[in-house]
Amino acid sequence: MRRLRVGILGATGVVGQHYIQALQGHPFFEVTFLAASQKSAGLSYRCALGSKGRACDSVTSVVMDLPVFGIDQIDIAGEQCDFVFSAVSSEIAATYEKLYAAAGLPVVSNASHHRMDPDVPLLIPEINPDHLQIIPHQQRVRGWDRGFIVAKPNCSLQSYLIPLFPLHRAFGIKRLILTTMQAVSGAGYPGVSSLDIVDNLIPYIHGEEEKSEREPLKILGKVADGKIAPAEGISISAHCNRVSVIDGHTACLSVEFNQRPTWQEIVSLWREFRGVPQELALPSAPAQPILYREERDRPQPRLDRDSGGGMAVSIGRLRECEVFDYRFVALSHNAMRGAAKGGVLNSELLYTQGYLGEIL
Ligand SMILES: NC(=O)c1ccc[n+]([C@@H]2O[C@H](COP(=O)([O-])OP(=O)(O)OC[C@H]3O[C@@H](n4cnc5c(N)ncnc54)[C@H](OP(=O)(O)O)[C@@H]3O)[C@@H](O)[C@H]2O)c1
Repeated sequence: MRRLRVGILGATGVVGQHYIQALQGHPFFEVTFLAASQKSAGLSYRCALGSKGRACDSVTSVVMDLPVFGIDQIDIAGEQCDFVFSAVSSEIAATYEKLYAAAGLPVVSNASHHRMDPDVPLLIPEINPDHLQIIPHQQRVRGWDRGFIVAKPNCSLQSYLIPLFPLHRAFGIKRLILTTMQAVSGAGYPGVSSLDIVDNLIPYIHGEEEKSEREPLKILGKVADGKIAPAEGISISAHCNRVSVIDGHTACLSVEFNQRPTWQEIVSLWREFRGVPQELALPSAPAQPILYREERDRPQPRLDRDSGGGMAVSIGRLRECEVFDYRFVALSHNAMRGAAKGGVLNSELLYTQGYLGEIL
């Protein structure tokens, strides 16, 4: 089987490095093209990383010696790869993702710029794999032949939307209040200054609360008339905080349902939940996407973020709520499930569904 050749835009950042790690020895894909800013262009990947290469410590492959290109060298990307992962800021993504797609390269994006475009799937493969059906429409409307854009949602969202999904399907979510405690690696490298975050908590992350309130509605929405129509009848109120944790976003939630379930029904739905990635046994899919922990003090970032290879969501403390119906705590790895390994899972689904070309 020929592996598809992949490029990584923003290869030297936190998410880019997690892509390199997640793609080591991957059965479907091999990394052949790396791009970053002009500062890194012309250097080997190893030299461009320098001392910020913390997620690539265990990478031994030839990738470390590949050259880094400027992100504007799209012609070289077109020769050297079949599709790209985008791990650049929203501002850079706004300029380049559509140029790559127009050049015939599918773009699997971690950036927020295209997330709310009505013709761009905002994909969590366990929840809305059917949204990929909009891709041919996106290509037609934008005049792209082989290229397209698929986005990943905000990194904190997968920690709570995956467990909320089977509950929403069974009982309907009416109102939700969520409070996130987000790791510093979520802000990229070098991120928040140590003098600001050590011994501290910052109760503001630019744009994060708006994303946490809007993106779930699109993910739970339906494809109709050439667009993804957001789900209706769900109210969400979000508080997002940056905390002094390196990796792993935690969320505390209070939920009100249209029909109130029992405690046992909720835990059973979580334990039994499997999605399309599990049915297809995709290489990055955790066997059990939702892990309910009985201990009264779990989940915790240091103990639980690497569960299921960094792809499982750990849940705990399900209890009745005095204001809404139930409350619980949810946690997932922001740079793995929330970013790079989740992006790889998206591309595994795209590949097996034929969107990346012939399955070789
Ligand atoms: N960190 C997370 O946990 C996380 C989770 C989900 C989504 N995301 C999203 O993923 C994207 C990347 O985040 P990150 O945390 O990896 O950020 P980061 O650590 O700051 O990395 C940014 C990357 O973009 C490159 N870059 C900077 N300016 C550029 C320019 N003018 N042209 C081309 N490339 C440029 C950098 O290259 P140089 O090294 O050459 O400067 C680096 O490779 C963002 O959109 C972020 O919101 C992040």
